[in-house]
Amino acid sequence: MVERVSKTKYNFEHPAGDYKKIFETVEELSEPLPATLTGRIPSFIRGSLLRLGPGLFEVGSEPFYHLFDGQALMHKFDFSNGQVTYYRKFIKTDAYVRAITENRVVITEFGTCAYPDPCKNIFSRFFTYFKGVEVTDNCLVNVYPIGEDFYAVTETNYITKVNPDTLETLKKVDMCKYVNINGITAHPHIERDGTVYNIGNCMGKGASLAYNIVKIPSKQKDKSDPIEKSKVVVQFPSAERFKPSYVHSFGMSENYFVFVETPVKINLLKFLSAWAIRGSNYMDCFESDEQKGTWIHIAKKDPGEYIDYQFRTSAMGLFHHINSYEDSGFIVFDLCTWKGFEFVYNYLWLANLRQNWDEVKKHAMIAPQPEVRRFVVPLDPYREEQGKNLISLPYTTATATMREDGTIWLEPEVLFSSPRQAFEFPQINYEMNNGRNYTYAYALGLNHFIPDRASVHPSVLLTIVVCPGAQRQTYCLILNAKDLSEIARAEVGVISPVTFHGMYKP
Ligand SMILES: [Fe+2]
Repeated sequence: MVERVSKTKYNFEHPAGDYKKIFETVEELSEPLPATLTGRIPSFIRGSLLRLGPGLFEVGSEPFYHLFDGQALMHKFDFSNGQVTYYRKFIKTDAYVRAITENRVVITEFGTCAYPDPCKNIFSRFFTYFKGVEVTDNCLVNVYPIGEDFYAVTETNYITKVNPDTLETLKKVDMCKYVNINGITAHPHIERDGTVYNIGNCMGKGASLAYNIVKIPSKQKDKSDPIEKSKVVVQFPSAERFKPSYVHSFGMSENYFVFVETPVKINLLKFLSAWAIRGSNYMDCFESDEQKGTWIHIAKKDPGEYIDYQFRTSAMGLFHHINSYEDSGFIVFDLCTWKGFEFVYNYLWLANLRQNWDEVKKHAMIAPQPEVRRFVVPLDPYREEQGKNLISLPYTTATATMREDGTIWLEPEVLFSSPRQAFEFPQINYEMNNGRNYTYAYALGLNHFIPDRASVHPSVLLTIVVCPGAQRQTYCLILNAKDLSEIARAEVGVISPVTFHGMYKP
């Protein structure tokens, strides 16, 4: 069971506005910087902490507007023989290389439109218009292994193979070539043997939208690329025929997939016309359905089989699953949710995040509020009577109730709730506990959308901390996962912009 986090009174005030510096452009490094050490690095930490985030927030005179638009910068803290170095490189995606070459935004990003080259004559502009908008490969969200390779990723159909040692960009891979998906999340699940599962929306039966779970096998004996053997293992239907929900992650227990279909929808008509209409971007295509609430879907993993029970709960926003596991005929899954139906990304425009602290606070007052919730679904719900709680696990207050219309209404157990204080970017001891009953989850305190705790901006456990006011502005902090006490830190004299996700590569 997740241990409840006690609510402590903190005072998070940022009069200096230091946080603005984590949304500013930096340069890549030509060689790794040695870090200054305090404490002793545990001998079992031999490897690299790899993280991704935006590093270039404007090109020439053109700014990027949204938190997820800056060009992908890969960071690496490297640990060997008790020494630590810090290194970073821009991923040489098409979006980046062409932006640098033409000194303007060439490929439309999540919340920033690319405009046709004003220098081209009217005829070539006409053709640019009809060629449509290119899909971005700006892989600023996460990095994960496939077989023996490593990929920097965003949420489109493009993933980018990188060298995790040199941070060199190797090749762009189009997942559409291998499986029926329109995009694929930055949060796959990876089994202990290296098999990767991921989810993306797709065209399903009868031209309806659907969601496919894709399986990429582990490394191949014949050394071939496992991506070539990618396949769809199961399909989830869409609550709305032409409007798939935005999907950021999913859950996987030992034998089941959990997919939460939230009311944040992609309006396909708007989306398709955005390909032709100048001045549209991805953010323009989202809309929230106030009526539909949230649909929970379950599927068997092997062999893949959709389980057609109609689990429903109230509207919520969701980006990150914490964990999912089976217990006595139930699936328990824990989520970092956001209350209501409004899209949280509407609050992540850079202009809002860079405001003065009073404005940042006001902004967070009107935004959806965070809450960590535990849901439980029964795997065999039809045996019980209508109106009765079907959940009999002794340790949770989460309920599931069969209603007259055959839907099963889920009410969560609230694990942690504190206004404007999110428990987000969750981490668990993944290799040991993913898909299994577990005790501890770790996360980042997101205070009014600014990732911070008292004027530092950490990520999790092995964490990159940015402290803009200090002499050495960035450090890798090594915390004891038992009590979060500091074991060591490795500081460098350069600032790191915000990072989203990453991995420890032993
Ligand atoms: Fe994420």
